[in-house]
Amino acid sequence: MSNMSAQPTASSITIHELRKSYGRPRAGDPSYAVDGVSFEVPKGQFVTLLGPSGCGKTTTLRCLAGLEQPDSGRIVMAGRTVFDAGQRHQVRTEERPIAMVPQHYGIWPHMTVLDNAAFPLRHGRARKGQQNIKQRTLEMLDQVGLSGFADRWATQLSGGQQQRLALARALLSEPEVLLLDEPLSNLDAKLRVKLRMELRAFQEQFGVTSVYVTHDQAEALALSDTVVVMNGGRIEQIDSPERLYQQPRTSFVADFIGSANLIPARHVSEVSNGFLVQTDLGAFLCASRGQQKATSSETGHVCIRPENVEVHPLHSSPANVADHNEIAGVVAGAEFLGDRLELLVDVKGTRLTVTASAGLSARTGDPVVVRVQPAHTRYLAS
Ligand SMILES: Nc1ncnc2c1ncn2[C@@H]1O[C@H](COP(=O)(O)OP(=O)(O)OP(=O)(O)O)[C@@H](O)[C@H]1O
Ligand SMILES: [Mg+2]
Repeated sequence: MSNMSAQPTASSITIHELRKSYGRPRAGDPSYAVDGVSFEVPKGQFVTLLGPSGCGKTTTLRCLAGLEQPDSGRIVMAGRTVFDAGQRHQVRTEERPIAMVPQHYGIWPHMTVLDNAAFPLRHGRARKGQQNIKQRTLEMLDQVGLSGFADRWATQLSGGQQQRLALARALLSEPEVLLLDEPLSNLDAKLRVKLRMELRAFQEQFGVTSVYVTHDQAEALALSDTVVVMNGGRIEQIDSPERLYQQPRTSFVADFIGSANLIPARHVSEVSNGFLVQTDLGAFLCASRGQQKATSSETGHVCIRPENVEVHPLHSSPANVADHNEIAGVVAGAEFLGDRLELLVDVKGTRLTVTASAGLSARTGDPVVVRVQPAHTRYLAS
């Protein structure tokens, strides 16, 4: 393998056309665990890989860490090419400017909390020229709220404390890049929410470029500057949490992030103020659309978020319903959730999910009109 080459880059990490198979597949074959993935992580940013189980998140992270050898592609980190298949160039894990927090924290049970945290300073890439290791480690333990625990065995910590110890250990080596693989997944729901806030606060305080893996969309939205949504080894969309939610490019993203009513489209025509989409439920004028498909025989969905559906009691006959974005239905279920009402509205056998104000009086069997503004109606190719 060649020497490390310096490359100027505005990003802390650049991943270009990464492919990794665990067998011997051909391009386009679904057995590629990671199939042509490219994205950038700007310096100091928090980027999350999000997607369902088996979509290639851990494999991508392990390629960044140098724990897997990709079949093709290029990885640049902090200005150095750490992997380039074309050049047959691979920098070993220990030589990469990273620290990794694996899913089960990788904490050594036979060591104290202090020795666990100090390990990278004593033995890792950062060990050369280290001074005041004990004092620096104690300071870091203090920062993550473990100051009184230094002499305990690591096994005597709770799940949340072990997670903080793993983070302290990772941050102590002052990595350019922090890699985290579902670090909160084996904690209970309340602790997960508390620790994800702490995690983000530490990340900002230390300004460390972070790549985080999760299959939990709420976690991804809450933590990230940018989310990379993966599906079947490929990237569906790279965007800010807000844009992913408001402007999904595909039906997959709309369905995976938050909840969405996806109504199959029969015919789409472009009109002056958007896209007029015919569905079995009626016509919808969509002010926006997701990604454009190259094929002319396009199929897709009308995407409507539950909170964007207005529900009105049906006082007049269904014939008075407008010719688009308004349909008559019947309440098929209503759940009072304190601050809001969750309704299921049956329209010609299709169930729409609607979030309504808690004050709305709607009971199962009530006839209603549902309405959605074109600005909140989006056409998505599938
Ligand atoms: N060591 C391995 N040998 C063979 N196949 C593997 C190996 N590791 C992962 N795979 C396969 O590669 C694909 C991607 O796996 P990966 O672990 O990257 O998914 P993931 O997105 O992290 O999923 P999860 O959310 O379940 O952790 C899966 O189909 C998986 O079965
Ligand atoms: Mg995984």
